[in-house]
Amino acid sequence: MDTLDAIRTRRAVKQYDPDHRMPDADLDTILSAGMLAPTAFNIQHWRFVVVTDPALRRQIRAVAWDQAQVTDASVLIVMCADKQAWRKDPARYWADAPQDVQDLMVGLINQYYEGRAQVQQDETMRSCAQAAQTMMLAAASLGYQSCPMDGFDFDAVARLINLPDDHVIAMFVAIGKGTQAARPRASRLTLDQVRVRDRFA
Ligand SMILES: Cc1cc2nc3c(=O)[nH]c(=O)nc-3n(C[C@H](O)[C@H](O)[C@H](O)COP(=O)(O)O)c2cc1C
Repeated sequence: MDTLDAIRTRRAVKQYDPDHRMPDADLDTILSAGMLAPTAFNIQHWRFVVVTDPALRRQIRAVAWDQAQVTDASVLIVMCADKQAWRKDPARYWADAPQDVQDLMVGLINQYYEGRAQVQQDETMRSCAQAAQTMMLAAASLGYQSCPMDGFDFDAVARLINLPDDHVIAMFVAIGKGTQAARPRASRLTLDQVRVRDRFA
């Protein structure tokens, strides 16, 4: 599927065939596509929790406004990130680069994140959102439907998946075989309403 077609046809689909099983190869393709999204300093701090246990899915649904996607989509991915990844052996993010580049980048990573808790947190959201959209477009190109989600109790989900203290949850991505088309698009703002030329008035 052409990239623009995938972007234009992707919709947030809510109803899924609960009996559909996604082949592992498709899931790997989707996750691997997500991993090609950009991250600042290439720190790749996302961690994708793929929830396959049906009992756990039911528990998550109970703290996610009883949304059917949580149990019925073929795959539920909890998009998490490690806020401290910048300090955990950062040379590995540049291991294939020449030594001088590696040294430079590791120094810059440290300078950029050290003592900046807000930046550490914000970066997780930027990265996970980009990975989520990339996964949803990859899923569309493979013939799947998807739904981004943040309608859930973050603390409760964190407990259910044993989220480490230095990690954070950004959102869910549910992917599967939709059984009902999304409702017609809700109104979108016009380009003129969202485009700002040079600076705000
Ligand atoms: C961060 C985020 C959280 C969302 N949370 C939910 C959700 O919990 N449940 C849901 O049904 N849709 C959720 N959506 C889907 C939006 O409602 C949907 O993307 C929006 O209405 C536009 O529709 P479209 O994606 O089909 O164009 C979420 C979307 C985003 C980006």
